[in-house]
Amino acid sequence: AAVQQLARQVLQRHEGQPGSLLPILHAIQHALGCIPAAAVPVLAEGLQLSRAEIHGVISFYPHFRDTPAAPVVLEVCRAEACQSMGGEALAEYARHKLGCDFHSTAASGAVSLEPVYCLGLCAQSPTVMINGQPHARMTPAKLDQLLQAEGV
Ligand code: FES
Repeated sequence: AAVQQLARQVLQRHEGQPGSLLPILHAIQHALGCIPAAAVPVLAEGLQLSRAEIHGVISFYPHFRDTPAAPVVLEVCRAEACQSMGGEALAEYARHKLGCDFHSTAASGAVSLEPVYCLGLCAQSPTVMINGQPHARMTPAKLDQLLQAEGV
């Protein structure tokens, strides 16, 4: 019920503003760390959209998530420069190590794996970001060390 109540409050704040779905989704994710499924019917009703339309927008933007992120968020750069410098193998390693795919959380609940598209460190690729902190010239061994330092 707390989720529905928050969704209603956010809707109220944006009442009468056209194109307000994205700001509303941002506000909900900011408040709750994700957009829980329970918020979707409330938004659909308030904005006179179908649930499918709202789900479509949530899944279109990689930024939005329907479950909260783990305490550690590992983002692996998947843009071109990093890909050509071993980023693909690194992504594969991260998937394998955490036992989960991108946009999801390891079964331990400790780490979420996300893609990121260029951190502006292409000259030192491949790169990752751990809890918002960029790390360059990444290798599986260095990644192990970094995750270990985060208690993973
Ligand atoms: Fe990865 Fe630019 S492509 S940092």
